Amino acid sequence: MTDTWNRHHVLSLADFTPDEYDTVLQTANSFREVLSRRTKKVPTLQGQVVANLFFESSTRTRSSFELAAKRLSADTLNFAPGSSSLTKGETILDTAKTYLAMGTDMMVIRHREAGVPQAIANEMDRLGVKVGVLNAGDGQHEHPSQALLDLFTITTLLDPNQPQLSLLKDKKIAIVGDILHSRVARSNLWSLTASGAEVHLAGPPTLVPQLFADFVKEPTDEGLGLKASSKQPDSSSSLNPLAFSRKLFLHWSLEPALRNADFVMTLRLQKERMTSHLLPSLREYHQQFGITRDRLKLCNPDVKLLHPGPVNRGVEISSDLMDDPQFSLISQQVTSGVAVRMALLYLMGSSKV
Ligand code: NCD
Repeated sequence: MTDTWNRHHVLSLADFTPDEYDTVLQTANSFREVLSRRTKKVPTLQGQVVANLFFESSTRTRSSFELAAKRLSADTLNFAPGSSSLTKGETILDTAKTYLAMGTDMMVIRHREAGVPQAIANEMDRLGVKVGVLNAGDGQHEHPSQALLDLFTITTLLDPNQPQLSLLKDKKIAIVGDILHSRVARSNLWSLTASGAEVHLAGPPTLVPQLFADFVKEPTDEGLGLKASSKQPDSSSSLNPLAFSRKLFLHWSLEPALRNADFVMTLRLQKERMTSHLLPSLREYHQQFGITRDRLKLCNPDVKLLHPGPVNRGVEISSDLMDDPQFSLISQQVTSGVAVRMALLYLMGSSKV
């Protein structure tokens, strides 16, 4: 399985190939089996050090990475910015180098500014050290492990034995809410459109700006990408083979996005990132874009709901729906997170590059 993997860092899903997605899904599925045993631990990363450098707050992502590293028998270091030397003026790169000097093998990094994990990865490469860097959420840029756990949650539901990207082909997936500020949405746009699913974004125009229509364009030799689904397949493309087949639609009302949807992913209104008044009120938002039982009737009868958490109960989604196992995959997402993060740490640790 690791033959198809030569990624030392996981920073973005923009250039992930179908083989890489499938490798993550299959590896996570074998770790899911490990996690169902009485002894939920394997010696894979014994003697290695995984440092969780979370410069921004987190509940599930940080704990999930910590547990994943522990289940692989790694030693874990947890960094808390409030009580660290950052408060004494140390730079982020110096903090990373401090962890490097202690023998860290992998760094899991979250930061409120986009690009910090990339900058640390560049520094590790420049120093010629084999330290893998994993982006656990950087500003409004990307959150690859979240999108991969979402993908794993959906594909294991469709086929628990063989979760794979192609299971999503032609499924309709609605992503509803604050797309503008969401790194989860950006990573999911890459993975879900790579699967051949139809992805429909819905939210108020202030939170789903028109520029997202061009989001899943691929970089080309000319430097600029092509509009999603606007060109015929071009087998001569030297870049991602998926470049011309991504299906992405934007809606400024909920109904067309929900109609016959197979999966609905709701996103938190990220009030901490809203610099101006983008919404009349939370009540108004719920009235227009909140997911309720009534609105779900528009979807495929087997529709399932996802939310990366944390949830504003009664805003993005009605409170009772969130806890309804017939529809909600929210706790499965959290459970999947551990297996997927074990897979990522394992694959990065075994990368030959
Ligand atoms: C998300 C994040 O931090 O980007 N949460 C998460 O990691 N599960 C989404 C959010 O904060 O709304």
